[in-house]
Amino acid sequence: MNILLLGSGGREHALAWKLSQSPLLTNLYIAPGNAGTALFGKNIPVSVNDFPAVKATVLNLKINMVIVGPEDPLVNGIHDFFKADPDIQHVPVIGPVKQAAMLEGSKDFAKQFMHRHGIPTARYQTFDRTNIHEGHHFLKSLSPPYVLKADGLAAGKGVLICKTLEEATREFTGMLEEERFGPASQKVVIEEFLAGIELSVFILTDGKNYLLLPEAKDYKKIGEGDTGPNTGGMGSVSPVPFADTLFMDKVEQQVIKPTMHGLRAEGIDYKGFIFFGLIKVNDHPFVIEYNCRMGDPETESVIPRIQNDLVRLFNAVANQSLETEIISVSPLTTATVMLVAEGYPNAYEKGMVITGQEQVVGSLVFHAGTKLNPVTGETVANGGRVMAVTSFGKTMHEALAKSYENAAKIDFKGKHYRKDIGFDL
Ligand code: AMP
Ligand code: GLY
Repeated sequence: MNILLLGSGGREHALAWKLSQSPLLTNLYIAPGNAGTALFGKNIPVSVNDFPAVKATVLNLKINMVIVGPEDPLVNGIHDFFKADPDIQHVPVIGPVKQAAMLEGSKDFAKQFMHRHGIPTARYQTFDRTNIHEGHHFLKSLSPPYVLKADGLAAGKGVLICKTLEEATREFTGMLEEERFGPASQKVVIEEFLAGIELSVFILTDGKNYLLLPEAKDYKKIGEGDTGPNTGGMGSVSPVPFADTLFMDKVEQQVIKPTMHGLRAEGIDYKGFIFFGLIKVNDHPFVIEYNCRMGDPETESVIPRIQNDLVRLFNAVANQSLETEIISVSPLTTATVMLVAEGYPNAYEKGMVITGQEQVVGSLVFHAGTKLNPVTGETVANGGRVMAVTSFGKTMHEALAKSYENAAKIDFKGKHYRKDIGFDL
C-alpha cells in the first residue's frame, strides 16, 4: 500500500516510524513532514490545508490511504473533500468528517453533544456578542477560578483560567468584543472549574467499534511544577498509574460508550482517533475536551507501546472491521521528554544546528520541529518544540532516567526541557 501521512510534528514522526514497520506498506509519503519523517518515507512539500494539492499528490503517487495527523485539515473538511470528489472518493481517509471534527472545532458543539448524551463534563453556558450581559451574570453565579474558552480552534491557546471575577469579566468581554482569539472567540464558553488530575485517553474507531489505546499523561506548562504559560506539551508518560482498571472501566462506561452511542444516534460516521481530555475528580472522570486526532506529545509515548501492525488497524478502520482486531500493548512504561527552543511558547529562534543525535543509545528520538538544511545536510530547528526523546522502562522512573540521559546528549543553542516530567504521579 502507498500511504500519505499529513502533518509535520513529533506525532507524525512517531506515526511514520510505526507505519514503516508494517509489511503491508509499500511507500510512505509525508506532507509536509520534517527531517525525522524523512528517515521513514519521502517528504512532499504540500500544506495539510491545501486540499487540491493533496488530491494531486494522491493521484500522482497512487496513494491508497490518507492518514491525517493534525486537527486543522479535519475541521476544514478534508475527509468530506475526498468523499465528494469522484477521482479520490475511493481513497480511505483516517480522520473524521467535518461534522464529527466539530467535537474539537467547536467547544460549544462539544458541550451540547455531551449534554445530549449524558457525558460527565463541567457545568457551562455559551455566550456571544448579543448576550454579554447574561455572561456577566453567569460568571457571578460561579465560584473562582473561572474558566473561559474560545469556541473555535485556537492552537491550544483559547482557554483562560481567571482567578478573580474582575479578571474573568474583563477577559470575557475582551474575547467577545475585541475577538481576542479572532473568529474563534465569536462565541465563548464559560464553565465551572474542576479540580483534579488530568489524563489523555484515546480510541481508534471505525464508527461502529473501537479499540482502547494506551492512556497517557501530558505536561502542558512550560515550567517545572506545572507553572508558566501553556505549551503544545513538554513531555508525556504512558501508562498513567492512577488510571487503574476500576477508573478506566468508568471511563469506558461513562464517557467512551456514550460518546460512540451519541455519534451513531446522530448519524455521524466517525473514522479515526478520538482523544478524550479527561480530569479525574474524586475518582470520577469528567471530559475537559474532545480532540479529533491523537495528542502530541502523547503519541510519542502511546504509539511505541502498541504492538499491532498499525496499517492493518487502519485498514480495519477503513473497512469497518475493527471488531475483529485485538489491541496488544507493551506492559512497559514509556516516557517522553520534549526539547524546545529558548523563548518557547513565546517568540523563539529557528535554524539552530542540532547535534549529538548519533550519541543517543536506548531511546527513540522523534523530531517535532526540524528540517534538513539541503546545502549543509545538517538538521536544524524549525519550530518551538524541536525534538522528543522517548524511552521504555520497567518503571516510569527507569524510562524517565533513560530519556533524560539521552536528552542531555542532544544539543542546540538555547535548548530547554522540563526536568520534572511525571513529578505528580
Ligand atoms: P482545553 O484546551 O479545553 O484542553 O483546556 C486547556 C487546559 O485548561 C486543560 O488542559 C485544563 O488544564 C484546563 N481546563 C480546561 N477546562 C477546565 C475546567 N473546566 N476545569 C479546570 N481546568 C480546566
Ligand atoms: N498534548 C495535547 C494535545 O495534543 O492537544
